[in-house]
Amino acid sequence: MININSTLQEFFGHAIKAAYPDLENPPLIVTPSQQPKFGDYQCNSAMGISQMFKAKEQKVNPREIAKNITRHCPDSECVEKVEIAGPGFINVHLKKDFVSEQLINLLVNGIQLLALGENKKVVVDFSSPSIAKEMHVGHLRSTIIGKSLCRLFEFAGYDVLRLNHLGSLYVMSPSKSLIKSTMHWPSLFRESGESFYQDRMDDVVKEFENRGFVQADDGRKIVFVPGCSIPLTIYTYDTSDLAALKQRLFEEKADMIIYVVDNGQSVYFQAIFAAAQMISWYDPKVTPVTHAGFGVVLGEDKKKFKTHSGKTVRLIDLLEEGLK
Ligand code: ARG
Repeated sequence: MININSTLQEFFGHAIKAAYPDLENPPLIVTPSQQPKFGDYQCNSAMGISQMFKAKEQKVNPREIAKNITRHCPDSECVEKVEIAGPGFINVHLKKDFVSEQLINLLVNGIQLLALGENKKVVVDFSSPSIAKEMHVGHLRSTIIGKSLCRLFEFAGYDVLRLNHLGSLYVMSPSKSLIKSTMHWPSLFRESGESFYQDRMDDVVKEFENRGFVQADDGRKIVFVPGCSIPLTIYTYDTSDLAALKQRLFEEKADMIIYVVDNGQSVYFQAIFAAAQMISWYDPKVTPVTHAGFGVVLGEDKKKFKTHSGKTVRLIDLLEEGLK
């Protein structure tokens, strides 16, 4: 399917270049018309070009500019005619045959995307509740946004791996060292909960140690990451996320990784991604790893949604109330 807007951008791009070959970066503004009497699309570049001349202390009427642009319009398989209106708008009328051909194609074949995701795998980390805490109303956001993203990627032809990263549960022992709980937790998406990452976490720690990135700090082991003021702490949530990221890159062979998590954790994800790049696990130009953040659920008072007694709303209560 042809993208009419970009076809017209190209069309006017040529015309403007031919009309004003010396003008650097002239504005290229093409929009669908608001009313049928103004044609199907409009090019509104003449006004901006006039402003550019004005900045060079040359006075050129935008209508004159519009005329000059239309004189340089190339032949096109989709444009029937262009006409100038008002102070310098260029109205575009599309060829009826062209439009009907596009519509028939759409009705017969449906929407067809370019093979964007062909042979590409995207990992989407979403929903991801913490097993140490009860699910709350906020988890709906990541679950719904994440699922929608997955469906869009699937539609675009990607191989989509849905991952539910079940947060880690740590118990503080009297000796101050962290003991990792070996809790097994069923996952709706995969059984890649806790135990799955244990060996991988040990390997990650060794890798960072061997590369000399680990420092001792008051009984903990920390890693400073370029561009991040707060260091990562070995054997916490950080390490399990690094192990998970490595697994996604090297074992799942993901071409793209997306974390659908609220904006409260954006600094944390910046640090995780920077650490992974520091240890050369991936090149962001080749493999985009992104945090798709979103805001918090607000109550009617425009504050974070809480119960009357000030507690976070439990997801189960919300769902039960919905059913009632
Ligand atoms: N468990 C966290 C929370 O409930 C979100 C986890 C997000 N995913 C991740 N890989 N860290 O806020």
